[in-house]
This record gives sequence, structure tokens and C-alpha cells, in this order.
Amino acid sequence: MDVPEKSKIVEDGYNQIADIYHSLRLAKKDLNYQYFDNLFHFFPESGKVLDLGCGGGQPLTAYFADKGFDVTGVDLSREMIEIAKTQIPQGRFFVSDMVECQFTGEEFDVIVSAFAIIHVPQERQLILFKKIFEWLKKNGTAYLVLANQDVKEWREDFYGVEMYWSHFGKQKYQELIDEVGFELIWDEVENLPNGEVFYNVILKKE
Ligand SMILES: C[S@@+](CC[C@H](N)C(=O)[O-])C[C@H]1O[C@@H](n2cnc3c(N)ncnc32)[C@H](O)[C@@H]1O
Repeated sequence: MDVPEKSKIVEDGYNQIADIYHSLRLAKKDLNYQYFDNLFHFFPESGKVLDLGCGGGQPLTAYFADKGFDVTGVDLSREMIEIAKTQIPQGRFFVSDMVECQFTGEEFDVIVSAFAIIHVPQERQLILFKKIFEWLKKNGTAYLVLANQDVKEWREDFYGVEMYWSHFGKQKYQELIDEVGFELIWDEVENLPNGEVFYNVILKKE
């Protein structure tokens, strides 16, 4: 499979499950807000935030919007973006592959991405990390929810649709973070109640 075929699986899949996925995220909003509150001291108090693979905007884009940040969200799925627009009317949202986004350099104070880079083909992830570095302002902060296991390609049923995942694990991500020039200021291997494990990081561009 080439990259467009892989992206199409993800795009079509999330277009079909946008409503159900959004309601599940909304149901956990309070819990997620508590989690972000504990990390908020790592972030600036205001500024411009970019959420890559923002989905329906809940909970992450909404969290920063509620704190008064100027938020931009990008997602492959137009259905997800339509939901995000209703959730955060003051936000700027557009449909795009996060790897293909065009921003002028050093535009954002904060870049976040939760449970989305896990869908970006391994061969494109170094390019993506370099772009995140480029789009962040000096002293900018990135919060990324990454995978904890190296899996080149994995396709499975996800809420009744076909889905595609591709990711590295903790060790390789630490190498990428280093290679790109980020400073790793916080990390955590997070074990979710459903048995899934993620590698969460906060990075600084010095
Ligand atoms: C599991 S959902 C997570 C959504 C949201 N970040 C959250 O925390 O609920 C993954 C999202 O990433 C989006 N996505 C996956 N690959 C993407 C890509 N290459 N570019 C932009 N969005 C992508 C999907 O369309 C989907 O909305």
C-alpha cells in the first residue's frame, strides 16, 4: 500500500465513525481536563495552539480554547472537522493531512496531538517531527500522545470500520526527538483501563 491508500483508510474510517467517536470523547471530558490541568504548568499561559489530528475538538482543542488560547485544528476527516467547528466556534479548523500542512515557520506557541500520530505511516513520522519543530516558536511547547510499541503497519476493525495504524515505540521516539532538536521535558508511559498503552511526551524547542 502507498501513502495515499493508507491515508484513505484512516480518512474514510473516521468519516464514518465521527459521531460515535466524538460522543465517547465527550463522555470522558472531565477526566481529561483534570489530566491536562496537572500538565498545564508546562505550557505558556496564552498564545496560539495547533492541534494535529484534532478530531471533533474534544477534549484537547477545547481545553486550550477554554483557557483563552487562539486554536487551530487540522484533521484528515471532514466529518470530524465539522464536529470540531460546532464545539469550538471561535477556532480555525481545516481538513488536511497533518504532514502536508503549510504553515509559515515559527507560528505556534503550542502544538498538540493526541492519539493521531499513531495513524501516520512510520516512513513519514521523522518528516512530521521536523515540521512540528519548524512550526513551533522558539521556547514553544509540544504535547504529543504517541504509541509505546514499534508496529510498522496494523489494520483492524475499529468501531465497525477498517482502520490503519503505524507507529514507533518509546525508544525510537526518543531518538527522533533528539534528532530533530527538541528537549524532552516530561514523559510518561500511560496504561489505559482498556489495556492500551501510550507514550506521552512534552517537548521544548529551545
Ligand atoms: C483517535 S482520533 C483522536 C482525535 C483527537 N485528537 C482526540 O484526542 O480525541 C485520531 C484522529 O486523527 C486524525 N488523523 C489521522 N491521521 C491523520 C493525518 N495524517 N493528518 C491529520 N489527521 C489525521 C483522524 O482523522 C482522527 O480524527
